[in-house]
Amino acid sequence: MTTTIAERYDALIEPERVHGSLYTSPEIFADELEQIWYRTWVYVGHVSEIAQPNDYVRKTIGPQDVVMTRGADGEVHLLLNRCAHRGNLVCEADAGNSSSFRCPYHGWTYRNTGDLVGYPFPQGYGGRGKLDELGLGRVPRVAVYQGFVFGSFAPDGPSLAEHLGEAAGELDRLVRLSPQGEVEITAGFLKHRARANWKLLAENETDGYHPQFVHQSIFSVAESGIGALYGEKSTAVTRDLGGGHSENDLRPEFRRLAAPMGWFGTTEKKVPHYVAAMRERHGDAAEEILVEGAPHVMIFPNLFIAEIQLFTIQPLAADLTVQHVTAIGLKGAPEMNTRMLQQSIGSVGPAGLLLADDTEMYERNQAGVAELRPEWLDIRRGVGRESVDERGLTIGGATDETAMRGFWRHYKRLMTTDRVAAGTAAGTPR
Ligand code: FES
Ligand SMILES: [Fe+2]
Repeated sequence: MTTTIAERYDALIEPERVHGSLYTSPEIFADELEQIWYRTWVYVGHVSEIAQPNDYVRKTIGPQDVVMTRGADGEVHLLLNRCAHRGNLVCEADAGNSSSFRCPYHGWTYRNTGDLVGYPFPQGYGGRGKLDELGLGRVPRVAVYQGFVFGSFAPDGPSLAEHLGEAAGELDRLVRLSPQGEVEITAGFLKHRARANWKLLAENETDGYHPQFVHQSIFSVAESGIGALYGEKSTAVTRDLGGGHSENDLRPEFRRLAAPMGWFGTTEKKVPHYVAAMRERHGDAAEEILVEGAPHVMIFPNLFIAEIQLFTIQPLAADLTVQHVTAIGLKGAPEMNTRMLQQSIGSVGPAGLLLADDTEMYERNQAGVAELRPEWLDIRRGVGRESVDERGLTIGGATDETAMRGFWRHYKRLMTTDRVAAGTAAGTPR
């Protein structure tokens, strides 16, 4: 008797434990590309990275090289970086401003909307305008929420709003921290390569059980209070936002502190212009915003916002992932932006301690799961003390694995229901 693929995932993913092969199997990785990365909505970039008409920036969706462009008319496009002639990479620079791209191999030229505009020696094709159907591949669906640009290789499916669901509110919370209601991603990205499966990174982003141990040294050196937020006595919660999204909601702790800018480990006296601008924009609501601070949210499958930093996860192989990191900027808040950049350099920069600590754990984790016995990873922490909040969402304690269990529920659904036939249907980029 043969087992179907769905039955196979059923056997590998249980509510409180997952099988080690999910992190190591090249076949499962290939299947994930089809069922998740080339099908669901994936975060690509931010509109502020292509602020001017004809700006472009190179990005990725899974292993695919994508160029995010802004047309002369201001519209955002996601193009595949592959010449329609013989497949050469068309765009070489990481970012720039150009209304067109010229392939270096035989000089075919494309508009930044993807249309083919010309090719040298047209007589070979019977004249000009004979290859109009050829252009750069396009990501079929592009949608923007609060300036965050998402792409989906599936021409049909849930809308971005449906995909984001409850996680949309976390992006709303983030942009509220700007006196102009917008964030900007202009600090430039660092790329950190980890010899680990992408899911280990995604799971870790809202794992509140590890910080006290993995990040003990930076917390003690910096005399930071962050560790206590993830302690056994913390009133913070881990929330399963549905759709594979999750957050560490630290607001209960910050409300207890009741100090404007306490979330940032500072006081309003240190950032007086920012606080004044916020009070001017938000009126009475400013106090709540200044106390509660920024979200700590993982948006499935690849966008992680850790208060003042943005991470994207790029899977390359079952055991190879690149994490792209940058500091978030708040539009209209130069005073804050300088500090957020400095803090980001210390935590996730080339010599930053936080990301180095985590990467060490990802790689040790990957090496460990490749061992044959025991086969399973345990994710039961906090099962017996979960509850449902006023929004109907499952919450656990600050150190519980509620987020992981939500991640795997959604993962299993994508891998088992409405499967895309490999290589033939909507999921395959073309
Ligand atoms: S491969 Fe691009 S022009 Fe030939
Ligand atoms: Fe960490």
